[in-house]
Amino acid sequence: MSYLTEISCSMNDWKKSNYDLICVGLYEENELTPLAMTIDTHANGGLRSAIQSVKLSGKSGKNEFILVDDRPVLVLGLGKKADFDLSNARNVAATAARQAIARKFSSVAVECFPLEGGADQAVSEGLVLGSYQYLNYKTQDKDVFELESAAVLGGDESQVAKGAVIAASVCYARDLENAPGNSTTPSKLAESARRIAKTGGMKVTILDREEFTEMGMGALAAVASGTDEPPKFIVVEYNGGGDEKPVALVGKGLTFDSGGISIKPGAGMDEMKFDMCGSGVVLGVLKAVSTLKPKFNLVCVIPSTENLSGGKAYKPGDILTAYNGKTIEVLNTDAEGRLILADGLSYVSKHYDPEYILDFATLTGAVLVALGHIATGVLGTDDDLMNRVKAASQATGEKVWELPLWDEYCEQVKSKIADVKNVGEARQAGTIAGAAFLKEFVKEGIPWVHFDIAGTAWGGKESPLVYQQGATGAVIRLVLNLLGI
Ligand code: BES
Ligand code: ZN
Ligand code: ZN
Repeated sequence: MSYLTEISCSMNDWKKSNYDLICVGLYEENELTPLAMTIDTHANGGLRSAIQSVKLSGKSGKNEFILVDDRPVLVLGLGKKADFDLSNARNVAATAARQAIARKFSSVAVECFPLEGGADQAVSEGLVLGSYQYLNYKTQDKDVFELESAAVLGGDESQVAKGAVIAASVCYARDLENAPGNSTTPSKLAESARRIAKTGGMKVTILDREEFTEMGMGALAAVASGTDEPPKFIVVEYNGGGDEKPVALVGKGLTFDSGGISIKPGAGMDEMKFDMCGSGVVLGVLKAVSTLKPKFNLVCVIPSTENLSGGKAYKPGDILTAYNGKTIEVLNTDAEGRLILADGLSYVSKHYDPEYILDFATLTGAVLVALGHIATGVLGTDDDLMNRVKAASQATGEKVWELPLWDEYCEQVKSKIADVKNVGEARQAGTIAGAAFLKEFVKEGIPWVHFDIAGTAWGGKESPLVYQQGATGAVIRLVLNLLGI
């Protein structure tokens, strides 16, 4: 674990604070932020003249270290004042944290930039996300430098604390996701769920291979048949809202996807350790819930296994029976995510009466073709819920794009020999086919949105918010916002 879990909101005068680095802002209009002005006044115009001499423009992404009274001050370009929003504030704070690490400053304080409604939470989130590094396997001291503390100068205490909890939950998920497949196993996910449940006063149920097979989860059992690594079906129930209907979250916990008998090409196969990022979303949300204790009910399900090609592996042509009784013709063992989710979605549909269901999965390579690493593909059955998802996306800056789930597409996963087949038409609308398949396992009448995070969960451009090109923790902040946190 290498990230900050707490951010203070020191009201200290910048002069009295003992942070190694103070960060302020400059807009493109050449206007200083309030703390920058204070520092400039103290330095008799020294900050302004230093800014002029290094020709700092205030353009977003342009930053400069300047010495004031022998203390380093980082001036961050904020772009045009009218365009400066929460996403910018989060990004800029993350830049401050990354710059502090790069220059080996142990502590950093960032001004709480003025914004209508307050930037306190966003700046706090940015500092934690920017402090994130994945160093678990670095054994040499020279490769390790961590930020020890950070503050939002002038920030509201509860907003700053909330931002830190949310971002630390994202980092918690990233750690599970960045870890290799021989560390993040189904048992590890189960153990993580257990720990979160314990601190959060939640109920946890872990079903092993024999139990879920006996119960009729024929799809998860088939995918798990090719590996000796023990698979798990993880259920966590959080009760904070009395007898209200729960929200259900289901996450794909495929801890390594080789493709199975329909084996994947070797190049890039290592990235399939990230195939559990759907479960990372669920555990990240649960982690935040365990600390913030909101007043609602939640049920979370993670079907988890590896997809390998051992002697007992399931095969193309096999027909499986899912937990809701529907039969599935397997035409490609690499379309395994939808199979394990079929049992997860059937389970929450049958045993709970959810207000709505959200599922998260690195489901299709096709979503990467359609949307790149920029937006998560979303598909669903209920316009109101979809609109709420889009509003949460706007509020958090986590981009989503809706794809249609029209009947014509749903026809494409009907099988001649069984109820459904696990692939659609070759090379056509692969992401929609994945969602069309999942829809068969969501009880009619329950609003549902599927998040295909295969493009956004890892591998995008390195940025202040994302360490190297590793796991992003995408859509955790969005879901927490949707849940009203
Ligand atoms: N885990 C993969 C999806 C994936 C591929 C995520 C590449 C990120 C990058 C999933 O299990 C899979 O292999 N899906 C197949 C489905 C196909 C066989 C219908 C795919 O997308 O090729
Ligand atoms: Zn696969
Ligand atoms: Zn997969």
